[in-house]
Amino acid sequence: MPKETKVEIKGFEAKHYDALLDFISLGKYKSFIRRVISDMNIQPDDRILDMGCGTGRNACLMAEFLSEKGSILGLDIGDEMIAQFEKNCAELAHVNVQKMRIDEPLPLENEFDKALLSFVFHGFPPEKQEKIIANARKALKPGGELFILDYQEFDLGKKPWFFRLIFKKAECRLAQDYLKVDWKNYLKARGFDDFDEKTYFRNIVRLLRARLVG
Ligand SMILES: C[S@@+](CC[C@H](N)C(=O)[O-])C[C@H]1O[C@@H](n2cnc3c(N)ncnc32)[C@H](O)[C@@H]1O
Repeated sequence: MPKETKVEIKGFEAKHYDALLDFISLGKYKSFIRRVISDMNIQPDDRILDMGCGTGRNACLMAEFLSEKGSILGLDIGDEMIAQFEKNCAELAHVNVQKMRIDEPLPLENEFDKALLSFVFHGFPPEKQEKIIANARKALKPGGELFILDYQEFDLGKKPWFFRLIFKKAECRLAQDYLKVDWKNYLKARGFDDFDEKTYFRNIVRLLRARLVG
């Protein structure tokens, strides 16, 4: 029976999160995530909210595109993840992390040009997903961009048996529900438009960009 959610990462997995991703992806994660971040078209003075930021790996890469006018705020609830973020981004004055739940109301309003949800969103039940999107909508400036890096919608039943087996073993039950939602329609009904998408790993993973209607 798969676990309901695996998005709260603790202990050994949290301590070695980046190394585990590199190992599982046979070393491909590094170049993949670099490509994703470059596909975000980050501008030098962007203010970026990284929701469920993890170890700061994405933040460090995003920071390469920023001038000192730009900034990144990471939010996470995992103490181990936050400690790694602080260590990894210690040299970057305009990159910060705070311990905050992204699925509860956030005190951030009309501040950010971009918000990123990277491999986080699929691990929440629908009522929490509503709260996360409401937080992103409130935190973004009008015309700001929400990026969701996560699974592309696909029919798990039509994938080869070994893929189904690995997916069900590795992923939580909520991830299976996530695959069935038309996320562009979902976001359209919640004030977003102007979608753009890029896919990776043979269309299994997608970077979806949605713009907050100004
Ligand atoms: C799978 S990791 C992804 C980390 C990072 N975004 C990345 O792409 O490398 C999920 C992250 O979400 C964080 N997280 C889980 N639930 C959260 C919540 N309710 N609020 C904030 N962060 C959360 C976890 O602590 C973990 O760091």
